[in-house]
Amino acid sequence: MAKTIIAPSILSADFLKLGEELERIEKAGADWVHFDVMDGHFVPNISFGIPVLKSIAHGHNLINDVHIMISDPKFYAPKFIAAGADYLTFHFEACKDVRECLEVIDLIHALGAKAGISFKPRTDVKKIVPLLRFLDLVLVMSVEPGFGGQQFMKDSVSKIVFLKDYKNNNPDAHYLIEVDGGINETTGQICRIAGADVLVAGSYIFGQEDYEFRISELKK
Ligand code: DX5
Ligand code: ZN
Repeated sequence: MAKTIIAPSILSADFLKLGEELERIEKAGADWVHFDVMDGHFVPNISFGIPVLKSIAHGHNLINDVHIMISDPKFYAPKFIAAGADYLTFHFEACKDVRECLEVIDLIHALGAKAGISFKPRTDVKKIVPLLRFLDLVLVMSVEPGFGGQQFMKDSVSKIVFLKDYKNNNPDAHYLIEVDGGINETTGQICRIAGADVLVAGSYIFGQEDYEFRISELKK
């Protein structure tokens, strides 16, 4: 099994010390930083946006993994990429139809970033099949988007298996499978065995004593 990529979600970080928190996760072995954007419209919470991304996107070697849980991703995609997104992941449910999703994917690629799509727990994974061969990342939500610290939803595992099988049987599919929500040493291992390449973890890492231990537990 290839090395698992760990993407701590700064939604659970101490915002008073955001720079230090980024240094800590990088030193502790994180590969990416997961940046959860919430607009209070697509999801019932408001987190942070472009000015914060601009200020934290540089000065470290972590990949900026930006997860936009917002309406109108086509309008905002260029702004998040200009602010420093390396991966930009928007929501299937935030677009009118597959055609609009494809337009957003093309736009992200045209602007030089990698394109990801995410989908809510109640969305059937088969709905995103027409997009799969164009994507660099698929983000499986294992919680209802909007908050950190929720319980892992077990029925997301079958979606990971489906995506892994699809990738194994379709040579033109090259996306990474990322899982997001309620990830800890137990659920992380379940996801890895099912086929996940990237694990997002917020409350399992931030606010804890030993970031290195927590991240190593997810990589085991
Ligand atoms: C939820 C976010 C997740 C969340 C993960 O809407 O997309 O990235 O911050 O937090 P934990 O790991 O605590 O579930
Ligand atoms: Zn997220």
